[in-house]
Amino acid sequence: GAPPPGAARRPVPPPVKLARYLAALGYGTRKEAEALLAAGRVTTGDGRVLREGDAAPHEAIRVDGAPLDPPPGSVIALHKPAGYTTSTTDPGAVVYDLLPPRFRARDPLIAPVGRLDRDTTGLLLLTDDGALNHRLASPKRHLPKTYEVTLAEPLRGDEGALFASGTLLLHGETTPLAPATLDVLDERRVRLVLTEGRYHQVKRMFGATGNRVTALHRAAVGPVTLGDLAAGAWRVLGVDEVQALREGVARR
Ligand code: URA
Repeated sequence: GAPPPGAARRPVPPPVKLARYLAALGYGTRKEAEALLAAGRVTTGDGRVLREGDAAPHEAIRVDGAPLDPPPGSVIALHKPAGYTTSTTDPGAVVYDLLPPRFRARDPLIAPVGRLDRDTTGLLLLTDDGALNHRLASPKRHLPKTYEVTLAEPLRGDEGALFASGTLLLHGETTPLAPATLDVLDERRVRLVLTEGRYHQVKRMFGATGNRVTALHRAAVGPVTLGDLAAGAWRVLGVDEVQALREGVARR
């Protein structure tokens, strides 16, 4: 279900060129956006028809009566179900299939922050703020990511100490993993907090202990949690959450 666009956000300044603005938000080519304006399909919430050259804040603009998609600079939280690839182009189901079709046509694109494996569920952030995306994905910023892991075999007992040691070397790698925190939920279920995001990291960490991950779910990225977001649903992060994310990856 789509959240109310613009909920709990600061007002976005009025676009200067409406057609260009609408095209950048994925409402069509520049020509198609000009045609929307010429046809009187772009209005304010109180029904005033907007033409190229008119000024109205993002929150006030409607296309065919519907509020605009989230403004530039938004961060989206998606609850990724299993079976979807974190990609725009893969054959088969991709995470963009869960978002409004216009999201794929935006420029800049609302791009995923890192990747979750096809069979991994849980919190995937997406943003069209390229600089923020880069910082969120950077292993140097040590943004904690919380995973709930289900294992094929019972824990052997030393996993917490091994993962916390900062000395675990994954097969084929030359830099040991940064320390990670393990909480045991039961003998086959753990919560694991990582500050990196290496390829298939959680699966390879448990592979290194002779175990196998049978289900993997990301519950949180930094200060952002899934909350009660249903599988397949998404929401626009509020101002406070985006601010907390930015602070989490600010250079210290
Ligand atoms: N670690 C994995 O192995 N897979 C993911 O999707 C995320 C972290």
